[in-house]
This record gives sequence, structure tokens and C-alpha cells, in this order.
Amino acid sequence: MSINLKKIKQLSLCIILQGGLLLNNRSTAQTVQSKGLKDYYKDYFPIGVAVSPQSLKDPQQAALILSQFNSLTPENAMKMGPIHPEENRYYWKDADSIVAFAQAHGLRVRGHNLCWHEQTPDWLFKGADGKQVTKEVLLKRLKDHITAVISRYKGKIYAWDVVNEAIDDDNSKFLRNSLWYQICGEDFIVKAFEYAHEADPNAVLFYNDYNTERPEKRERVYQLLKKLVDAKVPINGVGLQAHWSIYEPDQKDLIETIKRFSSLGIKVQITELDISIYPWEKNKRSLRPGESDAYTADLEKKQADKYAEVFKVFRDYKNVISGVTFWNISDKHTWLDEYPVIGRKNYPLLFDQNFQPKKAYWQVVNF
Ligand code: GLA
Repeated sequence: MSINLKKIKQLSLCIILQGGLLLNNRSTAQTVQSKGLKDYYKDYFPIGVAVSPQSLKDPQQAALILSQFNSLTPENAMKMGPIHPEENRYYWKDADSIVAFAQAHGLRVRGHNLCWHEQTPDWLFKGADGKQVTKEVLLKRLKDHITAVISRYKGKIYAWDVVNEAIDDDNSKFLRNSLWYQICGEDFIVKAFEYAHEADPNAVLFYNDYNTERPEKRERVYQLLKKLVDAKVPINGVGLQAHWSIYEPDQKDLIETIKRFSSLGIKVQITELDISIYPWEKNKRSLRPGESDAYTADLEKKQADKYAEVFKVFRDYKNVISGVTFWNISDKHTWLDEYPVIGRKNYPLLFDQNFQPKKAYWQVVNF
């Protein structure tokens, strides 16, 4: 094969131009990004984000979502309180709009969530006489709810968080003493999965919880999942919410968690990822006088390093991790601005308050 000098010159020019374009893209990344998280991770797992219907209507946020993510989780719209406000009335509008956006743009959707002790509607645990309902009535209500919601989005929602946060915060206890538990005992968990599977046999069904990397909690979640798997309950995966911080989890605990859960033959998803710049606190409180919420260079670096560390583990375990979802889009709005400390600004995500990629973003995509 003979290549003449002219061709070589043309080729080099072309490479130089392309290189310049790439460099140029990189240096102007502050405004236009040619590649998003979903592209960097295309050989690993889908990258999702929790959204509200309002965020999808905002052109700037919608553009950011479409350039970076390929999976959506409704932040609140599908929770039982918002979507099923009265026993005989569903409020579909918000959830529908998120699913329609996903359909229009070819994004997948994780449904969140079908059975949880928080954000429940007022009518749920009470009968017409105002008294607490029986187990039979409550399970019937659960079945109706799950069947209606899953059926509406059948074929459009590929995975569901079926039961959320059923394990107690107290390490010496097992299941949370919620009204679900008080009225139904452990059965509500089994039933929720069975109803979900019946409504859509193709949906991938998850148990979802927080602090799952802490050994004491991890072990109790594991016991629950093992019981379900052994009893052949239709559960396909565990969602690690991943409301983490620059202080935890460490790499060892995270790896141990992924290995332990996946040893049950189920998938692992990271479902609500954010990395707070503050240590975990459980109880709500107000900002203390003089308490700083400044995002210092040191905190920014620690956060970028933590993001790099956890994404390295995710990549190493791509065979069992089938999705990574961030909880909110950018630091402009995060639930952590109000929780656990009211009025304390947090900066837990990969995009800043102006929707620009942060140091942590570049750590996550440079591998
Ligand atoms: C839990 C729930 C989420 C969300 C967060 C806080 O993690 O699973 O739906 O409510 O709390 O925003």
C-alpha cells in the first residue's frame, strides 16, 4: 500500500484539527459539553437522576438532564401520598409528565416507590370509622395501589423500588416499627413484592434503603433480603440509596456491601447518590449561630476525592451494579439544604448552582 506525502499531510492536518477541537471542547466545557456522564459510562451502567416535573419544564435543567443522564427517577411524584391522595382518587399528572418526558427522549425510568412509612396519604391506615384498619384491609389497599400504579406505566418503567426503608434505625432491632409493620407484621414486605410482580412480571423489583454500608445496618438488610430470596419472593435487586458524605463510606465497607448483597444473586443499584460535605446527622435541627456552611476549597477537594473513590468501586463491580442514580440535578436544589439542618446550604452533587460541572465531575469522568 502506498501513501503519498500529500495524503500524509492531509491526515496530520485532520488529526491536529480534531485534537484542537477536542481540547477546545474540553476547555470550553464550562458552557458546552460534547459528552455527558451517560456517555463516559456507556460501557458500565445507566446514569440516572431524580427529578421533579418542574425541573423538566425548565429549559436549562432539561438540557442538562438530556446531555448527562439516561435514566430518571421521580423524586416525589410517585410516592403514595402525592400519587394516591384519596382512596378512590389518584393524581397522575406529575408522574405522567415525567414518564412522557422520558418516553419522548428515550430515557429509562425507575419507579419510586410503592411502599414506605413516610409520605403516606392520610386515609391509608384508617377506616371510615376513624379507627386503624385491619391487616386484611391494609393489604387489600396495598394491592390496589400497587396494581393501579404499576399497570399504568407497564412497559414504560423498567424497575421499581417496591419497599423502602423497612429496617429499623436501632441496631438492636430488626424491622422498623412502622404502621405497616404494626398492622401487617413482616407480611407487608412479601406481599408488596408479590403484588408488584403480578402487575408487571417484567419489572425489575428492588428493596431500597440507606446506611447500607454501615456493617450493623448492612447485616440486618442482608438478613431481610436473604429471607426473601430463600422464600422465592420475586425480588431482583437492592437499592443502596447512597446518601453519603465526604466522611463515609470508606472503600472497604462499600466493597464489602456490594459483595455481600450480590452474593444473594441479586443486582445492586445506587439509587439516590449524593455526597454531603457534612457528617451524617439523624435529627432535624436549625443552623447554630456562627455555624458555617461555606463550601471551602478543602471540602471541594475532599468531595471530589470521595466521588472518584466510589466511582472507581462502581466501575470495578459493573457486573453487579446495574444503575447509578443521583438524588437531584445540581447544587442549586438539593433536599440536603433542608435536611437535617434547616437553612444550611449543602453542595452534594456534580453540578454547581449554575449547572456547571464541578471538580468532582471531572474526577468521575477521568478514568
Ligand atoms: C429517602 C427516600 C427518597 C427521598 C429522600 C430524601 O431516601 O427514599 O425518596 O425522600 O429520602 O429526599
